[in-house]
Amino acid sequence: MKQYLKHHEWQIIEEGLNPHYNKISESVFSLGNGRMGQRATFEEDYSGETHQGSYVAGVYYPDKTRVGWWKNGYPEYFAKVLNAPSWIEIRIKIGDQVLDLAKCNVESFTRVLDMKQGLLHRVFTATLPDGKKVRVDSKRFCSMADGEIGAIRYEITAQNFDAPISITLPVDADVVNKDSNYDEKFWEEVHKEAEVGQALVTAQTKKTLFHVCTGIQYVLEQNGKRIEAKATVNLREKYADNVVTTELKQGSPLVIYKYAAILSSENHPKDKLVAHAKAKLKEAVAAGFDQLFANHTRVWAHKWEECDITIEGDVAAQQGIRFNIFQLTQTYTGEDERLNIGPKGFTGEKYGGSTYWDTEAYCLPFFLSTAEPKVARNLLVYRYKHLGKAIENAKKLGFKDGAAFYPFVTMNGEECHNEWEITFEEIHRTSAMAYAMRDYIDYTGDKDYLAEYGLEVLIGIARFWNQRVNWSDEKSKFVILGVTGPNEYENNVNNNWYTNYLGAWTLRFATQAVEFVKTAHPKRYAEIVAKTNFNDKPEMDRWKHIVENMYYPYDPKRKVILQQDGFLDKEIIRVKDLKAEDRPLNQKWSWDRILRSCFIKQADVLQGIYLFEDDFDTETIRRNFDFYEPMTVHESSLSPCVHVILASKIGYKEQAYEFYLRTARLDLDDYNNDTEEGCHITSMAGTWMSLVKGFGGMRVRNGQLHFNPFIPDQWKSYSFRLEFRDRVIKVKVGSGGKVETKLEHGDPLEVIMNGSPIQLS
Ligand code: BGC
Repeated sequence: MKQYLKHHEWQIIEEGLNPHYNKISESVFSLGNGRMGQRATFEEDYSGETHQGSYVAGVYYPDKTRVGWWKNGYPEYFAKVLNAPSWIEIRIKIGDQVLDLAKCNVESFTRVLDMKQGLLHRVFTATLPDGKKVRVDSKRFCSMADGEIGAIRYEITAQNFDAPISITLPVDADVVNKDSNYDEKFWEEVHKEAEVGQALVTAQTKKTLFHVCTGIQYVLEQNGKRIEAKATVNLREKYADNVVTTELKQGSPLVIYKYAAILSSENHPKDKLVAHAKAKLKEAVAAGFDQLFANHTRVWAHKWEECDITIEGDVAAQQGIRFNIFQLTQTYTGEDERLNIGPKGFTGEKYGGSTYWDTEAYCLPFFLSTAEPKVARNLLVYRYKHLGKAIENAKKLGFKDGAAFYPFVTMNGEECHNEWEITFEEIHRTSAMAYAMRDYIDYTGDKDYLAEYGLEVLIGIARFWNQRVNWSDEKSKFVILGVTGPNEYENNVNNNWYTNYLGAWTLRFATQAVEFVKTAHPKRYAEIVAKTNFNDKPEMDRWKHIVENMYYPYDPKRKVILQQDGFLDKEIIRVKDLKAEDRPLNQKWSWDRILRSCFIKQADVLQGIYLFEDDFDTETIRRNFDFYEPMTVHESSLSPCVHVILASKIGYKEQAYEFYLRTARLDLDDYNNDTEEGCHITSMAGTWMSLVKGFGGMRVRNGQLHFNPFIPDQWKSYSFRLEFRDRVIKVKVGSGGKVETKLEHGDPLEVIMNGSPIQLS
């Protein structure tokens, strides 16, 4: 855990240059706008530790799978979000000295992420090796108003000299992914051009043939007046720039505005990309930095109105939740139904492909409650569109008759994960799609979704479970063998309770969905039956039989659910008895040792209890929490949020608060020692859930909103806002648990507060 960032309600602040933490800061201070984004690398050269990363949503490369031993069923490739052509560099040379903070005496340095405005701001004073001292003030943003525009205002002032300055303003498509499997470069050049004032490169991805045109244009100002400086242009392979030379005069700031247009063939015809990029640049330059920034902050103001959460009396907690909301919002805006939410968003390359079960299991509730229903619906439809691929994925593994096995990691529906214990065994993820449907329908009331899209998916998933279970004569029950539950620190176990429970639940839910569509939409039902070859009576009879005879591991002595059949054979030790130097286990222990231990990476039984909370009484929840939490190392970012929600439910307020800080400040404080690889974007939605479902106790039951709030002792108040069935509701919880609930928009509504109905009007 590191605590080098200052606490502030609306800003993330780093004071002093921290070369060892630089890659962490590059992740934390990342910027995005749903269409593109980048890590917070410096504009000027930096020879210290850094990872330049720019990303364009939806643009990926199928990197040929690399494994030691090939296993039948492995995918051919891993789809990688690509490190895309870079536009942010402003390379400075003063006299013959390169401005490189790793080689300067840095007297002061501040890096600020202004979350309210979506602005990255750096100010530093540094002395070059030859004694020349400069002050730099740089501001940059990726426009939320126009997802294809980025802009930088870079102001440099000589403090103790007059000297010639040369400024290189490139577009560089000669970039690599650090995680390239065969050290291959994924981009090839299509087009480049440069003239004084402008440079453009169009690059295409190998194999997938996405085209991305990145163009830059710049404007210089000195003493507040636009100046024309001498410039030369350079073209190299996949690279174009302008090198501008002028005089830097002591005390007289030189301002460089660098505008960028980043357009991809996902949104423009390939043969029009360059022309459209030029038009966009022209627009950007004509508007100017201030106007573009005003448009951008207007969108942010609106976003914050929709989804801000306030916390009074605890700056660290306030900063944490805003940071999570900020990153989530700039990763996925919900405007483009082809996109999804990658675990690292635009902040790093780890985890490659864009879509994991994280979206359905963790992110959906945030978008359900903070955006119009269309956004959550789009996320579901995204999976509907991948149904064909899910059926193919299942076929590759030997399933048949339209069984659908959704991938663990994907870009286009095809599985691209290649560790057998996850690819083949972490099968619970296929039902996350079914659970998301239930969540969506409960929240929005849009049951007709089942007829339109949902049922086809459910039939496919139910068929998968039908084929994946097997009858055990020994147990006289259906069992599910050779699986990995959400806790990836156990592989190839039998009867992971979470998996068995979710599998059986899916069969039940699919049956209910069939009954509903059959009755409410008979015509559509007939179409689905024909399309899926659904033989309802025998198929559903068998589903029912499985549901009624599913095996669930349980320990009658402790009265706890067992994570899997063999769990109690393990030596039961608590995390708090581990030595500090053993943590995090995934960086300190051999994999063998981890697998044999009782330590749990992330909520597993508790994940199931969280999803199906109403199936369990509070005492059962408490007993299972008390048993499993002490063995949980939370080395997946997805774990603490589930614990906040359950701890809140059973009245463990202190623990709920600790877990809240852990999820909310996971990246800010680098809890798991891995933020330099990127921020944990999908778990950020879990932070939102922690507060709203955990502390706020928000649930939807039978179409009604319920709240059961409490306030952590450390806080004076907190408030959140929900969009719910054409209403906007604001809930504020003050000290002593005093609750104010306000209907900000929409027709009167009854909600259930601490078990009693109240009218909102
Ligand atoms: C977790 C998975 C998750 C993935 C991406 C892993 O560490 O164990 O559950 O889907 O990260 O967030």
